[in-house]
Amino acid sequence: MADLVADIKARLSIEDVVANYIPLKRAGRSFKACCPFHNEKTPSFVVSPEKQIAYCFGCHQGGDMFKFVEQVENTDFMGAMRILADRAGLKLEDYKIETDKPRISKSEKETLIQMHEAAAEYFVDNLWNTEDGKKVMQYLKNRGMTDVIIRHFKVGFAPDNDSGLIDHLVKKGFQKSAMIKSGLVTSKDVSSDKIFDKFRMRLMFPIADATGNVIAFGGRALKDAQEPKYLNSPETEIYHKGSVLYGLYYAKKAIKDADEVVVVEGYMDTLMSFQSGIENVVASSGTALTQEHARMIKRITSNAVFAFDNDNAGQEASKRAFIIAQEQEMSIKFLKVPHGKDPADSAKENPDELKAAIKNAKPFLEVFFDNLAGRFDLNDQAQLMEFLRECMSVLSAVKNNIIQDLAVRSLSARINVKEEKIYDEIERYKSLALKQPQSKMKEPPSDNGANVKKMSAEDTILAILFLYPELFSTIDSRIDENDFENELKSLYKTFVTQDGSITDAILKNLDSEQERNRVHFLSLYAESRYENIKAEAVRKDFDQLVQHVVSKKMVVKKEELKKMIKEADRKGDMGGREALLNDLQKLCSK
Ligand code: CTP
Ligand code: MN
Repeated sequence: MADLVADIKARLSIEDVVANYIPLKRAGRSFKACCPFHNEKTPSFVVSPEKQIAYCFGCHQGGDMFKFVEQVENTDFMGAMRILADRAGLKLEDYKIETDKPRISKSEKETLIQMHEAAAEYFVDNLWNTEDGKKVMQYLKNRGMTDVIIRHFKVGFAPDNDSGLIDHLVKKGFQKSAMIKSGLVTSKDVSSDKIFDKFRMRLMFPIADATGNVIAFGGRALKDAQEPKYLNSPETEIYHKGSVLYGLYYAKKAIKDADEVVVVEGYMDTLMSFQSGIENVVASSGTALTQEHARMIKRITSNAVFAFDNDNAGQEASKRAFIIAQEQEMSIKFLKVPHGKDPADSAKENPDELKAAIKNAKPFLEVFFDNLAGRFDLNDQAQLMEFLRECMSVLSAVKNNIIQDLAVRSLSARINVKEEKIYDEIERYKSLALKQPQSKMKEPPSDNGANVKKMSAEDTILAILFLYPELFSTIDSRIDENDFENELKSLYKTFVTQDGSITDAILKNLDSEQERNRVHFLSLYAESRYENIKAEAVRKDFDQLVQHVVSKKMVVKKEELKKMIKEADRKGDMGGREALLNDLQKLCSK
């Protein structure tokens, strides 16, 4: 495998690979483009022929050509390898790499399922019988979950351990090659065969198929800065995201009995709703509802209630799900989840109220219009137009004439416009929509989405220092390593102890892949942004950034002092108060 990776890298260049997807513009030593992973107007995606990496400084996605293809094609490492090998004219067979063909045999599928069952047992055991597991249990209790529901859904805990699961699976007699196919393990370095547990320090939700076999996992982060919040199993021979609904196995009977399904967004929502007595609940968990999901539901019932998150993302997701469900002519109800932002919070706060809200859910479009009307000022012409566009995008998807008629009547009353005008508008919208190009495979998150992070001042300071180490002397001990976070701290420290010498020396001293990557990305950032700028301007930027960090520090210090003064006040410690006030005054006069 290592040979193939090297041979691919020798034959292809990152710039050619990327240029296959998006147009590149030369900018000094690198290329620039608008990022393929998020919507933006000014390009922050940089491709470096020298470093052979492509990276977005807006949404922080990218890496070497394998990483890039993984992300842009929405596939895993093997998938990217197949695509790139093909492009390089190399055959996987020549490298003794197993391909998909011949299709996996029945017994291999069984092995994968047995492995997932064994993994689920291991995670459950860790949750109930280890010290760290007890802390996780406490977390679940704080979220309002009972032992019964934790057991029922086989919730588990993946400890902070590189090989706990692998060791367990080896003991159970599973082969490493099968582990790799299962997606339960990962390799940190693309060119090494060494494997690690994929799920570490995560709350584990087993995902079951229609007969209750565990076929995948969703793992929730348990530490604050742990990314991503949910790590999910990749697509495997036994797990196809688009055709699995989380919780369906447990909910099937209740769905049949009630002739209705409640659709929520998340794992926690599913468990907490179930616990509240809403047992006919399933989640699309992370992916948008697919046609296949809708077909699966339709085989059991034609009635669905959407209980999506109260935020904009949830409303947007419900709109898309509604449109999908139209294909199956399902009757959809909708509700505003009481309290909190999602059904999980709501169930914790007041399960009966959630239950009542679901029982009283109204036709989807009624609630949808209500929610929309709350977001726009309908007396304002421009906002009214925006409101109408939103309405049309769903109304035009409604297949059933009676449902559409009811909705049109309701909308007509709301905005005091004749029904026939609304019908005209629906037709106009449909013909406009036909002229639009086919929608893209994957909607990228938009510029104002939460995953667009600006480069921090600290990041940028380091980046500039890599390119212009001479600027280090101008810092003049105004800031030090303690002003940096996590791996930046050690990078800065190494930089200082190396006496501001350049990246190569620093690189040698770093022992984690993550730190090395950070240096690559930071120096790429510096090159793309600062290389062809006058020394004067760079210096000015640099000084401003340092000043920014200094003032940030100052604000924190002042807040601390104020708190201490209050505390001294409370205790009646006049002497202490005096001294603190003095300090504060000194700080303020700086
Ligand atoms: N999800 C995901 N990947 C992410 C974030 C979310 O797959 N990075 C999916 C998960 O299935 C998750 C669902 O989207 O359950 C809803 O996301 P969110 O509302 O953020 O999480 P909750 O399930 O509500 O989890 P919690 O209550 O612990 O915040
Ligand atoms: Mn949620």
